[in-house]
Amino acid sequence: MSSPRREYLCKVLVVGDLGVGKTSIIQRYVHNIYSHCYRATIGVDFAVKIVRWERDTMVRLQLWDIAGQERFGHMTRLYYRQAAGALVVCDLGRAATLHSVHRWKEDLDSKVSLRNGNPIPTILIGNKCDVAPSGGGSQDLEDLSRELGFTDCHMTSAKENVNIDDAMSCLIKQIIRNMEDSGSTDDPAIVKPSLHHFRYTDGCSQCCRFQ
Ligand code: GTP
Ligand code: MG
Repeated sequence: MSSPRREYLCKVLVVGDLGVGKTSIIQRYVHNIYSHCYRATIGVDFAVKIVRWERDTMVRLQLWDIAGQERFGHMTRLYYRQAAGALVVCDLGRAATLHSVHRWKEDLDSKVSLRNGNPIPTILIGNKCDVAPSGGGSQDLEDLSRELGFTDCHMTSAKENVNIDDAMSCLIKQIIRNMEDSGSTDDPAIVKPSLHHFRYTDGCSQCCRFQ
């Protein structure tokens, strides 16, 4: 296989209420694993996935797994800096988490934007479709997505590995399109999010935790 001509480094935020499955989605996408145990994320976790995109492009995704409880904290402005895209996750089995979606979208839109001032591409994820009644929630999710200006929406299951790759591909496609449109592929400030203000603890090359 020929070596890629272009390489992008993209910071992607994953936000949503407590327990909706943000960490599980990331674990499924990056490592193809799933756990029934719930361990609430504290602050932010961080994972990296390298994706071969089309023939000549490599995408290095930095996934920022932001704890549900952070919506009530003061750190999100710092976490959101220089993000290229986001997932807002809700739990299809818990209506309250759908109601919170607009708050997460507002929080993102008020604290991070593209260079041209437009909102960053953001996908609405209705997770745990394995426990939702058959077809349940799909129309609500689409209506909410349209009403709040999301780029797209997907029903997923981290447990059964449903639609997670599709949702991520949809986001990556839009991020690359934005970078190409703005000519920012040559601009390290955009392509390389700065991580210097964090201290690594139990870091490894694929998955690191911040403290
Ligand atoms: P915080 O870190 O507290 O913000 O939560 P989170 O959004 O990261 O949720 P997490 O991924 O830890 O998942 C919470 C619980 O939901 C765990 O018990 C998971 O096993 C379960 N879970 C996650 N995804 C799915 C899914 O697709 N289907 C089902 N049935 N359960 C899921
Ligand atoms: Mg978590």
